[in-house]
Amino acid sequence: MTYKNSRIFAETLDQDDPLGAYREKFHYPKNINDNDLIYFSGNSLGLQPKSVRTFVENELDVWEKKGLLGQHSRWKNFHERLLENTARMVGGDSSEVVVMNALTVNIHFLLISFYQPTETRKKIMIENGAFPSDQYAIKSQIEFHGLSPLDTLIELTPREGESILRTEDIILAIKDANQELATVMFGNPNYYTGQVFDMQAITNAGHDVGAFVGFDLAHGTGNLLMNLHDWDVDFAAWCSYKYLCAGPGAPGGIFIHKRHHDWTNHRFAGWWGQNKETRFNMGPDFDPIKTAEGWQVSNAPVMGMAPLLAAMDIFDEVGMNAIRKKSEKLTGFLEYLVIKILPEVTIITPENSTERGCQLSLVVPGGKKIFDDLSNRGVVCDWRNPDVIRVAPHPLFNRYTEVYDFVIMLKQILAE
Ligand SMILES: Cc1ncc(COP(=O)(O)O)c(C=O)c1O
Repeated sequence: MTYKNSRIFAETLDQDDPLGAYREKFHYPKNINDNDLIYFSGNSLGLQPKSVRTFVENELDVWEKKGLLGQHSRWKNFHERLLENTARMVGGDSSEVVVMNALTVNIHFLLISFYQPTETRKKIMIENGAFPSDQYAIKSQIEFHGLSPLDTLIELTPREGESILRTEDIILAIKDANQELATVMFGNPNYYTGQVFDMQAITNAGHDVGAFVGFDLAHGTGNLLMNLHDWDVDFAAWCSYKYLCAGPGAPGGIFIHKRHHDWTNHRFAGWWGQNKETRFNMGPDFDPIKTAEGWQVSNAPVMGMAPLLAAMDIFDEVGMNAIRKKSEKLTGFLEYLVIKILPEVTIITPENSTERGCQLSLVVPGGKKIFDDLSNRGVVCDWRNPDVIRVAPHPLFNRYTEVYDFVIMLKQILAE
C-alpha cells in the first residue's frame, strides 16, 4: 500500500473504506463541546455497540416477567449462543471454546490442568514483560505446587539493544529447556510492545520437547486472524472487553484443544462443567462434559454475556478477514505518518504487519508529559510505564482521518 502524507488522502481512504459505516454502530465518546474524541483505546476497552442496550434489556425483561422460569427456558444454556461465533473468531471447533469467568481467573483454571510440574519437568516459560496479572498468576501457581519461581520460571528477554523477541531465540530457549519444560504461556500480542508471536512455531517447538503450550489472547481476540485448532495450541484464554467491545469486566473465553476433551487429569471442577444430562440430578460425582464446557465452574453471567452477544453479531457480520484487512491498512497508515513526520518518535512494535495487530507502541521524547497533553486535547490512548504510549486504532470504529489528526497533533505538541 502506498500512502500519502495529506489529510485529503486520509479523507479519500475514509470515503473508500468498506467498513466506514460500522462506526455508526458504536457510541463514540465526545468532549464537553460534543465533538468526537480520538478514541485509540480499543486495546483497553472497546466502545459500546449501540445494539447492546436492546440485548441487555431483553434479558432484563425476561427476568422481570419470568423470574426463575427464565433460567429454565433461556439462561440455562445461554452461553451456548457464544460457542459457534467464538469458535469462528479464534479458529477452533465450537466444542473447543466456551465463554466463562474473567481472564485471570481462567488462566488459573487452565494452569491447574496444563501446568502440573513433576520432579523433573517443572519449568514454565513466559515472555519477559508479560502482563502483570499473568506474572502474578503464574508465580502463585508455581508456589501453589510448593516450588519457587526462582528456579522454575523462565522469562525470555530480547537480545541486548532490541525490544522484541526473535522467534529463533524463543525456539532455541524451548529446545534448551527441553525435558524440564512443563508449560509455555505467552501473551499474544504482548500488551506493552504489541509484538505478535508466531503461535504455530512456538506450539510446535513446545510439543517437540513434550510441553503444553498456551496463550493469553487478551490482545489477540478480535484483533488477529487465528487458527488455534490447526496450530495445535493446547489452551488459550482471553477477555472480551478490549477489541471485542463487550463492556467493562465482560466475561472471558477459553480454548481447549479437542485432544484434551477426555481429560482425566487435574481440573478444578464445578457444577456447570457437569454432564448436562445429569447436572440437575444433584449427584455427588463429577462427570465432566467432554468439551471445553467441562472446564466451566459456575453458571453463565447472563447480563455480562448479553453485550458480548451484541458485539459478536457485528464481528460475525463483518468477518475477521475484512476486519484484519482494514486494521493492517489503518495501523500501516499510522506507522507511515509517524515515520514520515515524527523522526523523534520510536516505534517499538514490529514493522512487519504479520508480527503486530492494531496497536503501535510509541516511545516519545517527553514521555508521560506528552501523553498528558494528548489526553488534554481529546486523544484517548494509554500510557504504560516505563516509557510507552500505546495507540490502537480499531478497524470497526476508527477513521483514517483520526490517525492523520492524531499524528499532526502529536507533532504540534512535540514542537511546543
Ligand atoms: C494481557 C492481559 N492479561 C491479563 C489481563 C487481566 O485481565 P482480567 O482483569 O480480566 O483478569 C489483562 C488486562 O488488561 C491483559 O491485558
